Amino acid sequence: MIHPPKRYLVTSALPYANGPLHIGHLTGAYLPADIYVRMLRMLDHDVAFICGSDEHGAAITMRAIKENSTPQAIIDKYHALFTETFEKAGISFDIYHRTSSPLHHETSQEFFRSLYAQGQFVEEESEQYYDQQAGKFLADRYIKGTCPKCGNPDAYGDQCERCGSSLSPLDLINPVSTITGTKPELRKTTHWYLPLDKYESWLRTWVESGILDGAEHHDPAEWKTHVIGQCKSWLDGGLQPRAMTRDLDWGVDVPQEIPGSAGKKLYVWMDAPIGYISATKQWAADHQKDWKAYWQDPESALIHFIGKDNIVFHCLIFPAILKAHGQYNLPVNVPANQFLNLEEQKLSTSRNWAIWVHEFLQDHPDHTDALRYVLTKNMPEAKDAEFTWKGYQSDVNADLVGNLANFVQRVLVLTHKFYEGKVPEFDIDTPIVGTRGDDEASWHEVEMMDLFDRMWSVQDAISKFDFRGGLKAMLDISSAGNQILQFNEPWKAHKTEPETVAAVLNLCIQYVAAMSYAMHPFMPAASARLRRLLALEPLTEQGSWVTTLDALAAGELLVPDGHTLHQPEHLFSRIEDEWIGMQVAKLHEMSAAATPQAVTPAQTETVASATAGKPPVSYDDFAKMDIRTAKVLAAERVPKADKLLKLTLDVSGVQRTVVSGIAMHYAPEELPGKHVVILANLEPRKIRGIESQGMILMAEDGDGRLHFVQAASDESGMTIS
Ligand code: 2FM
Ligand code: ZN
Repeated sequence: MIHPPKRYLVTSALPYANGPLHIGHLTGAYLPADIYVRMLRMLDHDVAFICGSDEHGAAITMRAIKENSTPQAIIDKYHALFTETFEKAGISFDIYHRTSSPLHHETSQEFFRSLYAQGQFVEEESEQYYDQQAGKFLADRYIKGTCPKCGNPDAYGDQCERCGSSLSPLDLINPVSTITGTKPELRKTTHWYLPLDKYESWLRTWVESGILDGAEHHDPAEWKTHVIGQCKSWLDGGLQPRAMTRDLDWGVDVPQEIPGSAGKKLYVWMDAPIGYISATKQWAADHQKDWKAYWQDPESALIHFIGKDNIVFHCLIFPAILKAHGQYNLPVNVPANQFLNLEEQKLSTSRNWAIWVHEFLQDHPDHTDALRYVLTKNMPEAKDAEFTWKGYQSDVNADLVGNLANFVQRVLVLTHKFYEGKVPEFDIDTPIVGTRGDDEASWHEVEMMDLFDRMWSVQDAISKFDFRGGLKAMLDISSAGNQILQFNEPWKAHKTEPETVAAVLNLCIQYVAAMSYAMHPFMPAASARLRRLLALEPLTEQGSWVTTLDALAAGELLVPDGHTLHQPEHLFSRIEDEWIGMQVAKLHEMSAAATPQAVTPAQTETVASATAGKPPVSYDDFAKMDIRTAKVLAAERVPKADKLLKLTLDVSGVQRTVVSGIAMHYAPEELPGKHVVILANLEPRKIRGIESQGMILMAEDGDGRLHFVQAASDESGMTIS
């Protein structure tokens, strides 16, 4: 697709409906797609923006087991949460669908049927782990064992989260079923495989040269280097046939008429991307559109926005499925983002080291666009990037408040002060000292052309997936506007040079109006507020960029003389240190409450009662733990952390500090003198700047209250074994 396409189909990765979205997800696959699509619409392109919940796969069923719930209840809960979260975040999908819908099941079954009928699959028998007690084959995620590469005892059957190796369940040492804790047995089962090894050659040509079936398909120079790099490394490693079915009880059924289909479901990575197609079908049905035009007309451009962990699926496996089926377009670009870190650590759901988008937007609805701004400014476009609360504060205060809002404020205040809020008329021939006007064009005209160029830069960067660059070009408009004000000082000049001041303010009002367009893809709500301040109609998305640029090119004003502006209001508010301190404290508190150093009810339960649900541990593992009695010498609250207490303990005459998440259960003053039991050789870890040297063991009663575990003797430092 080298020439401009007739229409665009833009997708964002379907999030697993098994847990909330954090800022890494938002900036990875949703925010960039939204900015891109909003710009496409403003450029008057025909575009469908597609997403939905990914509601199958082991991730969902595991969550259901963990929450003692059902897969259906889990997907309903998270689908509703996602729908609301995306709406609040201003992500303007044309449809947010779900893969549990009957239309999706039919569509993905049709795909399977077609590939089967064309003989694209290889049917193969293999041995897989079976849990006799649960009476089922185990999905890779349901098997844990020791990683053969790094020795991590908690590696999953598909991946070791410690060393990042991609594994097969058969690689694990001492595999255990996570459902029953028993040792699974190997049983024979038959599945349908997509022979990716056979597609390796055309996939390589397509990825490296953009050539498909001998014709130019896309320009690989427009793809991100890291995306092509990751594809090459998969290709260089040699692609293996991949099973497109699984023995599961949750997912899309393999079509019944296919012999051997009983109990088989589609592999979630086969069904999920087909979710883009079924969602498009639903959207088309709802809006009297032709879905086929978006997927099958070679004049349509397909673009997938994803995170880097999804590259292989979108750049190799799904294209292979689409091509094997025939008739479908392959993506012209997959602008995957890398990962966002939070305060110098990886975002982590299990450690609760995250900013949850729904929580943040619920607590701070007026921060939606500030968050979009900061996440775009720090978007991990080419390499992993960093989000810090201090950075959030300085980005908002310097860029949005100090630059953008300040410019708007000054223009509105001055217009009200000198012209009763009306856009001043000016004389086009007004000479302005020291400006770039020449014989051909007036100063005002030259500056308007400059504005055109700046708008063009925003558009150009966005069209190249350079969202950080586009954001900077947008902010440069208000920097330039501020400079015009600063240079001409209308607050001083209005008495001596009224003509100049009228021309300057008129020009600045045009700049502010242009900003309302340039801001829109990045910060749609703030752009709408700005238009209200300018007393302009709400911005029409479709085509409005084109009309604006046409107007600027023709030397027309965006806001006519005599138009009355509203009273000034602050577009963004300054963020104070205290607010930032609260966000940082919340982050640490939530994380401390979820990590082993602070006792959580779940961990207490494990330690206190060793109930079912955890796999058995070997004696050797148990013997590694240094469990001892201790006496509390002192206790105090940890500042700005509701749940944490800092305890000073005596362990055989040696003092040690432990930070414990028990502040909701015990007041510090009742603790000195208490006898407790601690895990003494837990790796020390800093919590809120305090090094915690161990963990206090607690028992939890049926009402969720925590109680100290005690030995029958008061001596401190006794070992427990
Ligand atoms: O990684 C994920 O969250 C997957 N649920 C993404 C699926 S994208 C597409 F294939 F549906
Ligand atoms: Zn490992």
